[in-house]
Amino acid sequence: MAGSRATFPKDFVWGSATSAYQIEGATHEDGRGESIWDRFSKTASNIKDGSNGDVACDHYHRWRDDIALLKRLGHAAYRFSIAWPRICPTGRGPINQRGIDFYSRLVDGLLENKIEPYVTLFHWDLPQALQDQGGWPSRSTAEAFADYADVTTRHLGARGKHWITHNEPWCSGFVGHQKGNHAPGLRDWRAAVAASHHLLLSHGWAVPILRQNSPGAEVGIALNLSPSMPASSRPADHDAARRYDGYINRWFLEPLFRGAYPADILADYEEDERLPQGEWIRAEDLRHICVPTDFLGINYYNRHIARGAPQKPEQMQTMESSDPPSVATTAQYTDIGWEVYAPGMFEVLVRVHLEYRVGKVYVTENGASYNDGPGQAQQGKQGQQGQGSQRSQRSQRSQRKKVPDARRVAFLREHLLAARRAMDAGVPLSGYFVWSLMDNYEWDHGYTQRFGLSWVDYQTQERIPKDSADWYRKVIEESAVPVH
Ligand code: FCB
Repeated sequence: MAGSRATFPKDFVWGSATSAYQIEGATHEDGRGESIWDRFSKTASNIKDGSNGDVACDHYHRWRDDIALLKRLGHAAYRFSIAWPRICPTGRGPINQRGIDFYSRLVDGLLENKIEPYVTLFHWDLPQALQDQGGWPSRSTAEAFADYADVTTRHLGARGKHWITHNEPWCSGFVGHQKGNHAPGLRDWRAAVAASHHLLLSHGWAVPILRQNSPGAEVGIALNLSPSMPASSRPADHDAARRYDGYINRWFLEPLFRGAYPADILADYEEDERLPQGEWIRAEDLRHICVPTDFLGINYYNRHIARGAPQKPEQMQTMESSDPPSVATTAQYTDIGWEVYAPGMFEVLVRVHLEYRVGKVYVTENGASYNDGPGQAQQGKQGQQGQGSQRSQRSQRSQRKKVPDARRVAFLREHLLAARRAMDAGVPLSGYFVWSLMDNYEWDHGYTQRFGLSWVDYQTQERIPKDSADWYRKVIEESAVPVH
């Protein structure tokens, strides 16, 4: 640290992230097929505000402006995802050239502006046609993914040099198939375990394909990792923390980096009859899954506090966001109800370094939902000004364009400082991507949660950089984070 700034290496990669369904809109255009999120979001009561991604941020039409925005915000890198149903509308088979052309133009536009594309192949929008044939619980979906990865990188592999196979397979696998609050909305443990296995397997199959089609590229996967802590010293809480860690972290880290599912979790699932029936895993699968990669992407948001249910100590419970904080009584929460816990960033980074010896790490997502909007802090003042002079009208307008989001600035600063401390402890962290470039469609929360560095007016599609965007631009410019 120099003075009151924590400095980062000059070649540290700074960017922000988005995903296709959350920003693109244009769900019926240019031959795009239906995705499971189109179907899920249009099914009554799945989405908090009843909305869907048909328009979202209209990025499909505004991508040039969004590149200009990235440029204006000083970004050196941009992480986005490709919508599989734009490339193969029915999941497998005929290729939709117009879909490929869209991403090709996007990649070219980014490169022309010296913004490095980090491309995610799967950020949850599975073609509905594949869901109709069994979806991720079925092995054939993993085969289809390998084909889709092949087609996509045959077209983009010469220009895209950073590939992420999957975004958060825990979410696609367990939130989609066990909890049911993401598409496809199942509540079936066995389906979720099978889905998670096929997601990992498809990663393993895709990696050599990406290497072949994109020579010199780096390839990895993005996991959502979360420290799991016992709510108290009770043995039942410790056991719940072990189980939650196994469920969310180790179920993915162990097969990817050690070639085996965690034995304790397999045993638990077996006992609880959560393992799929029949042959869900083949002898060679784990060898494929633990194929060497170039980096691990970590999405970090919060920690989990685990409690064992008193009557049934073997059943894991976790503290939901609405529960009163039991461990940290001074805890703060973002507007989506997630606890702010910056030390967790340090903990997950150090863990993958020490326990899994990961050679290169990116924070592929980190950010906070704070719903501050333009001029909110100024509203009283504007009201009092009433019909003032032209000058005051002008100043009202410019005030309206400011989005003061001090809480996001504090959140990003604390998490970046924690990341910097992890680097001091030896973690090979090479880059950081804020979630998100702009407010967007937050899955089952619809448009009720705003994670963006830029505020989006969903009526006009205007993007207004928030104070945090200016703050982050300076961080990038100086490759340094102010300590206060
Ligand atoms: C992550 C997702 C991302 C976004 C953030 C808030 O789990 O990868 O799409 O929804 O959460």
